[in-house]
Amino acid sequence: SRLDELRNRAKFIGRSCKEVKDRYGQAEDGLYYLTTSTGVVYQTFCDMTTAGGGWTLVASVHEDNIYAKCTVGDRWTSQQGNNANWPKGEGNWANRKTFGTVEAATDDDFKNPGYYDIDAEDMSVWHVPNKTPFYHWNLAAIMRYHTERRFLHLYGGNLYYLFHRYPVEYNVGKHLSDNGPSIPIVYDLGDKESTKMFYGPYSGGEIEGGFISFRAINHERAATAICSGVKPKGGNVEHYCIGGGGFFLEGNPLQCGDFTGFAWNGYGTHIGFSTSKQMLESAVLLFYR
Ligand code: G3P
Ligand code: CA
Repeated sequence: SRLDELRNRAKFIGRSCKEVKDRYGQAEDGLYYLTTSTGVVYQTFCDMTTAGGGWTLVASVHEDNIYAKCTVGDRWTSQQGNNANWPKGEGNWANRKTFGTVEAATDDDFKNPGYYDIDAEDMSVWHVPNKTPFYHWNLAAIMRYHTERRFLHLYGGNLYYLFHRYPVEYNVGKHLSDNGPSIPIVYDLGDKESTKMFYGPYSGGEIEGGFISFRAINHERAATAICSGVKPKGGNVEHYCIGGGGFFLEGNPLQCGDFTGFAWNGYGTHIGFSTSKQMLESAVLLFYR
């Protein structure tokens, strides 16, 4: 029965999906129980199949309303307006706050204790259309990729530590010269060209596909958190990087929000700096291994 299966699952508790897979040989994608080093128990989704499996879902970045600028629901930037006096905004890229639920990771923002607790080597990212139930995420995704150079070792073992080293904060540096690392990716669905096609045609002139990049800064010294699938070669990063600090000067407040300036030239128009509708309406799921 379902209850027996649940009891069975609860036996396989680990600190990460990789541990659950290695220790108990669990090979099915789905929801598992995990615990932090200090004993906080939570449930999340494990991808046990991609490139050897053992990937733990630790967060999702979901744009609930691109027209609302740094208001409720913009947890990965600011929920309290576009404000130069609050340069870090929510600060959730580098704190221990958690929010959302795994089931609703494509309906709302999600962050679990694994985000700061798991000692990881690599990341995997899935772009999944909003409102997709978890058992369809893999098939419904529009882009999936992972890193395989163990880059997180160099930055403290997870994003919590990486973003302590590279604060997501307004006015910490200059575009390009003070950006965080760009790490090569291996595609599980998509390729460099399809990645570029999800972003606006003008963005195409200043990005290179095949990377994941961190703490990219724009021309006006706004900081963004993650440029998914790309490496910035210019300073209009607000059109292809998500999350950020609490202040975006250009077009105040139009670029402030979890999906920054993704609709700069209209909603899902794929004109100018606007992304495709598919990209705008998909949540970005972040995994560790
Ligand atoms: O980020 C784009 C902006 O810097 C220039 O946009 O609308 O003046 O072409 P626009
Ligand atoms: Ca700009």
